[in-house]
Amino acid sequence: MTYVWIALGALGLLALWDICQKKHAILRNFPILGHFRYLLESIGPELRQYIVTDNDSERPFNRDQRRWIYAVSKNQSPYFGFGTDNDLENAQDYLIIKHNVFPVPTPKPDSPDFDPSFSLPCAKILGGFRERKKAFRPKSVVNVSAMSFGSLSSAAVEAINRGCKEAGCLHNTGEGAASPHHLKGGDLIWQIGTGYFGCRNDDGTFSLERLLETCEQHSQIKALEIKLSQGAKAGLGGMVLAAKVTPEIAKIRGIPAYQNCFSPSSHSAFNDADSMLDWIEMLADKTGLPVGIKSAVGELDFWEQLARQIDQTKRAVDFITIDGGEGGSGAAPRAFADHVSLPFRHGFSRVYRLLAEHGLHHKIVFNGAGKLGFPETALFAFGIGADMISVAREAMISIGCIQAQRCHTGHCPAGVATQNRWLMRGLDPTSKSARCANYITKLRAEILQLSHTCGALHPALVTPDHFEILEGPYDSQSIRSVFNYREGDAIPSAGDIASITELMNAKS
Ligand SMILES: Cc1cc2nc3c(=O)[nH]c(=O)nc-3n(C[C@H](O)[C@H](O)[C@H](O)COP(=O)(O)O)c2cc1C
Repeated sequence: MTYVWIALGALGLLALWDICQKKHAILRNFPILGHFRYLLESIGPELRQYIVTDNDSERPFNRDQRRWIYAVSKNQSPYFGFGTDNDLENAQDYLIIKHNVFPVPTPKPDSPDFDPSFSLPCAKILGGFRERKKAFRPKSVVNVSAMSFGSLSSAAVEAINRGCKEAGCLHNTGEGAASPHHLKGGDLIWQIGTGYFGCRNDDGTFSLERLLETCEQHSQIKALEIKLSQGAKAGLGGMVLAAKVTPEIAKIRGIPAYQNCFSPSSHSAFNDADSMLDWIEMLADKTGLPVGIKSAVGELDFWEQLARQIDQTKRAVDFITIDGGEGGSGAAPRAFADHVSLPFRHGFSRVYRLLAEHGLHHKIVFNGAGKLGFPETALFAFGIGADMISVAREAMISIGCIQAQRCHTGHCPAGVATQNRWLMRGLDPTSKSARCANYITKLRAEILQLSHTCGALHPALVTPDHFEILEGPYDSQSIRSVFNYREGDAIPSAGDIASITELMNAKS
């Protein structure tokens, strides 16, 4: 009998420790039970040899990818032992990065020119071409992609914003407006969707007055992003269920509490590339901020019109974020998530090429999203012309998301994509902000290391010729021929190359 009491007492103490500790959200939310997850994770490799899946078969992010994010966000060793477990000799559609025999040396931690923040500024000035009043050079080529307060918990938004401040990168608000949880010191891109949340009139139309008021109040807002669509649900409006429209969210978005909130599938402020450019020029003029667009890619007519209008009229978007069809969402219909809009590499390369044909590739900043939060996928994006990349779900994983894929139910066990107070309590913004910052910093470090391996001082100087795609045991294709890029595509202008080279050399 005594043993039973001792065991119960020990379990009680363990539960108390689990609830009070702040390192592991799962243990805080699921005391005692949560240990089984960590136990299973630690003996996972042995179990998987006999049962279930291998390291590369889960989606959207496989175990190797998640393990890498968890390791770097905890500042643990990101090394893997014994060599690759991928079947390189027979792989189809397998990316190879072609190293240089004489790589650029990467400073070691004990050398005087070692930079522990691995700062990696953008090679282009955001808003430089149109000479916006508040044009600037983004300090980091890795930034956090749009995710609203509402789809993410307040604790998650706060952890990410504080992490962005620490890592010196930009945090996109998502279309749900800039909430107080976004205002923890990290610089912001304010995303404006078709619902005009945070800058709307009562009838749901755009309010310039509200936009200017907010921009004036919050100097952290460094740019505006007009959302045309996102990869996971391109061409679809949104709806926030009445139950989720809490008084706090209602106030931030400028909508009535506890009523269904619809956002239409397209904007009411403009209806084609021409009127969009007028609107964007007006916003840039009134706010002084660089203004860009975010879109997934389907038909190309819009992009053709956009390129022609910019070319002929000199009105322009300052940046274009291309989201891949493989991108994430808080909630999306299956057919949209699985089948609508092109994957990043196809969508991005088509739009880039089209703008390059009009000579606009040096004037606009290209941003990419869609599972780019890993050194090799990020480098590939730079190689096909991206100037910056944005990460969404990878940033969620860095703050404790376990890919439970419950974002749409509100029951996220890690407290990341939920408004449930108990679940959210598990996520400590202080410790998780450090993890988010570690992840972004380490991603920059490895992107830089890979660039150096290719003989390039900065990822913007990596070209399509640095990549090859393996197609089975004996075939391969060059990226330049796959995407039909011309010589000189996918690298910045001579002036921008000179500036970024000078900046990178000044660091070392
Ligand atoms: C929970 C969640 C919420 C999102 N909310 C928005 C949003 O408000 N606006 C938007 O443009 N994209 C939104 N996205 C898409 C991301 O910004 C990003 O484009 C996409 O997930 C691809 O990046 P990833 O593969 O790094 O996740 C959301 C994604 C997730 C996972």
